[in-house]
Amino acid sequence: MRPVRIKNILSDGNVGQTVTVCGWIRTKRESKGVAFIALNDGSTQDTLQLVVSAESPAFNKLQDCNTGAAVKVSGLLKESPGKGQNQEIEVSELKIFGSADSGNYPLQKKGHSLEFLREIGHLRPRTNTFGAVFRVRNIMADTVHDFFQKRGFMWVHTPIITSSDCEGAGDLFTVTSLELDKIPTGKNGEIDFCQDFFGRRAYLTVSGQLEAEFLAMSLGDVYTFGPTFRAENSNTSRHLSEFWMIEPEMAFADIDDDMDLAEDFIRTLCRKVLEKCEKEIAFFEKFYKNTSMNELADLSEKPFVRISYTDAITELLKAKKKFEFPVEWGLDLQSEHERYLTDTVFRGPVIVVDYPKEIKAFYMRLNPDMKTVAAMDVLLPKVGEIIGGSQREERLDVLENRMQDLAIPFESMQWYLDLRRYGSAPHAGFGLGFERMVQYITGMPNIRDVIPCPRTPQSIKF
Ligand code: 4AD
Ligand code: MG
Repeated sequence: MRPVRIKNILSDGNVGQTVTVCGWIRTKRESKGVAFIALNDGSTQDTLQLVVSAESPAFNKLQDCNTGAAVKVSGLLKESPGKGQNQEIEVSELKIFGSADSGNYPLQKKGHSLEFLREIGHLRPRTNTFGAVFRVRNIMADTVHDFFQKRGFMWVHTPIITSSDCEGAGDLFTVTSLELDKIPTGKNGEIDFCQDFFGRRAYLTVSGQLEAEFLAMSLGDVYTFGPTFRAENSNTSRHLSEFWMIEPEMAFADIDDDMDLAEDFIRTLCRKVLEKCEKEIAFFEKFYKNTSMNELADLSEKPFVRISYTDAITELLKAKKKFEFPVEWGLDLQSEHERYLTDTVFRGPVIVVDYPKEIKAFYMRLNPDMKTVAAMDVLLPKVGEIIGGSQREERLDVLENRMQDLAIPFESMQWYLDLRRYGSAPHAGFGLGFERMVQYITGMPNIRDVIPCPRTPQSIKF
C-alpha cells in the first residue's frame, strides 16, 4: 500500500483515522518517556509530528531513529495539544527502512550555507530551502504548459543536437563521436568533420528558435520547453552552461504581440506560484528576504514599463551613478545598466525594445529606420534580463543582406531561407530563461541553487 503524503494529511485533516506515512526524520527529541519526531516527505514545507510513547512497540526502535533515517509509520491521527502543529500521529507501528549514521549524516539540524549544500547536491533536496525551490519549480513548469495550452499553442520538441548556431555568439559545445586521440585532419591541419558521426560538425543547441520558426510557419502558434546549452565562460550568479528555456513562436504576429505575450506569461507565473506555493514563498520571504508575497502580487497586476533602447540610453546618460561600463548609443546594455533601469529609474519590470542591429542576432526584423531591429528584452528587478525576443525578419532580400553583412554562410541555412521563399509571413517569439525566472520568484541569490544539477565552468559533480 502506498503511503499518504504528508501534505494531504495536513490539509485533509482526517483526525481519528489510522494513517500510514513514509518519510525522512528531521529531528527527534525525548522527554519523560515520550519521543517526538518531525517527519518530512518532500511533499510540503511542513513536518508531521510523530509521537512515540513508552507503551508503543515502536519505542524500543527509537535508537535508530536518527536525523536522516527513512521510516514508515502507522498510527492514529489526532489533534495536537502542543504548539507548532495542528495534528500529530500517535505511532503504533514503526519500520526503519534505512537509518542514518548520526555522527556522519551531513544534514544535522543546524543551518548550512548554500555553498556547503552545493557540495552535497544529492542530499540538499532534503532541506527546507531546496524542497521549497523544487516545489516552486514544479508548479512553474506545470504553469508553463497550462498557460500555452490554454491559449492554443502547440508544444513542439526541437532537437538538442543541431548543426546551426542560432544566436551566432559562438558559445557552442561540440558533439562528436571522433576519437579524441585520433582526430582526422584535412590538408591544412583543420579537423575533418566529414568523418564525424553526422558527416559535419554538430553542437548542443543554444536555442530551439530556428526549428520553432518552421513549425510555427506550418502549425501556427507553438512553444518549446527544454534544455539549452551555452559554453560561455561566465562564472556569475545568473549563468548556467545547461539551462531550460521556454520559447514561444507565434505566426502572424509582430513585436507588440510578442511583448504582450511576454508580459502576460510572466504575470501568470507569479500569480500561479502565489496561489499554489504560499508556504514556500512565506519561507523565502522570512529566511532569504529577496522576495515577498507583496512584490509578486504587485508584479502579477501592474503593466510593465516599455521603453525604446534609445530612450533607455538617454535615461542612463542622465544618471548620477558612475557605471563601470560605458554608456553610449550602439553599445550593449550591461547588467549594471539593466539593474539601474529596473531598480532605480522604474522600480519594476521594464521591456526595452528596438535595439541597434549591430548588437543583436541576424534573424531580427530590421526597423524602417534601418538602424534598429524589432528586438525586445524583458528586464526584472534583481535578476536583470529574463526574456530575449524579437519579430523575425520575414523578407528574403533583407535577411540575405543581413546574413551577408555578418558573413553567415548561406549553404547550411537554405532551409531557413526557404521559409522566406515559400509562404513567408510576419512572426515573432521570445525565450524565457526558466532558472532565472525561478530565481526571481524564490529570491534565491544564485542560479546554481534553483536547478537540481547545476552545470557551470569547471563543475559537473552531480
Ligand atoms: O536572449 P537569448 O540568448 O535569446 C535566445 O536564445 C532567442 N533565440 C530566444 C527566442 O527568441 N526564441 O536567451 C533567452 C533567455 C535570456 O533572456 C535568459 O533569461 C536566458 O535565456 N539565458 C540564460 N539563463 C541561464 N544561463 C545562461 N547562460 C543563459 N543565457 C541565456
Ligand atoms: Mg539575450
